[in-house]
Amino acid sequence: MYRFVRSILFLLNPERAHYFSVTLIKVVQKIPFLNILINAKPDHPILRKRILGLDFSNPIGLAAGFDKDAQCFENMGKLGFGFVEIGTVTPQPQVGNPKPRLFRLKYDQAIVNRMGFNNDGVMNVASRLSIRNKSSNLIIGGNIGKNKWTPNEKANEDYLKVFNELYDHVDYFAVNVSSPNTENLRDLQDKGPLLNLLSALKKRNVELGSPKPILLKIAPDLSNEQLDDIIEISLTLPLDGIIATNTTISRNNLSASPEVIQRLGAGGLSGKPLNSRSTAVIRYLHDRLGDALPIIGVGGIHTIEDALEKLDAGASLIQLYTGFIYEGPSLIAAIKQALVKREQ
Ligand SMILES: Cc1cc2nc3c(=O)[nH]c(=O)nc-3n(C[C@H](O)[C@H](O)[C@H](O)COP(=O)(O)O)c2cc1C
Repeated sequence: MYRFVRSILFLLNPERAHYFSVTLIKVVQKIPFLNILINAKPDHPILRKRILGLDFSNPIGLAAGFDKDAQCFENMGKLGFGFVEIGTVTPQPQVGNPKPRLFRLKYDQAIVNRMGFNNDGVMNVASRLSIRNKSSNLIIGGNIGKNKWTPNEKANEDYLKVFNELYDHVDYFAVNVSSPNTENLRDLQDKGPLLNLLSALKKRNVELGSPKPILLKIAPDLSNEQLDDIIEISLTLPLDGIIATNTTISRNNLSASPEVIQRLGAGGLSGKPLNSRSTAVIRYLHDRLGDALPIIGVGGIHTIEDALEKLDAGASLIQLYTGFIYEGPSLIAAIKQALVKREQ
């Protein structure tokens, strides 16, 4: 059925298709007959995982960027995700980069985006999350960032503001310093500023009473030396986990012509072409961290094999974005089925 829905969605421009899908997911869930069609089966108990001190009903999550404004997270849970990461959320609402800013590379099963943290701002997002169904077993992550106009020297204030406002409403935090679409944001991945930012968040986390897991989301374009710095910082603080990876600025592994690639312009590449690099980063981190810190593996998971490969490389949990756009909810079901088979 998703093939049919996708053929219609792919007739629309990618950003329209995205908003249409979010609306569709919200509406369909409210119609009793139709919601039966799309609601996933309850998770097999063998899929349960306790990671980060949290109980996940299954290890497959929706990556940040799909439900930036916490509009449809409950419904994404009903589609079968065990956790949903909302955001990236910034202190003030912002419109993001000029359109067009989202492109499909169909033959490469990829997406290029330069959305630029378009979001409703933390107060609106927090108010939507406040009516979250606490009895549901869906885990919610809050992915946090800074406004475009905030200089890096003042970035801590932005991250702390979003952290404070989301604190009562999310189960874990993902600190996003790895988006390529906010100028100079990735400089915050350097040792000095990173240590400074994460220490400030950790301090506030303790002050607020019942600390939430804080994970760092990193780019796939870091060198081994930069990854070593991140490992050192993660163990010193310590951090609670790492999310590897965000989109890449590389244009490797694409079959699209150089002219097409150039026409799309700047932005982060996600999907199939990112798969091998993100798995390599996960493997590098896991070889050095062992089980000291959990890793959430994300980047180019489009098949059961891609998912198993990420888990075998050392990821404790995985997330989907582009693979979900191309394959639909049946990808979640297929991965779960394979995991149940493997564990039994
Ligand atoms: C359109 C789009 C928007 C995204 N927005 C965010 C974001 O706001 N914050 C973030 O941390 N990652 C964002 N991402 C990155 C994804 O969360 C994920 O890390 C990346 O796409 C790799 O996974 P994938 O290949 O399964 O898509 C975005 C990705 C896409 C395609």
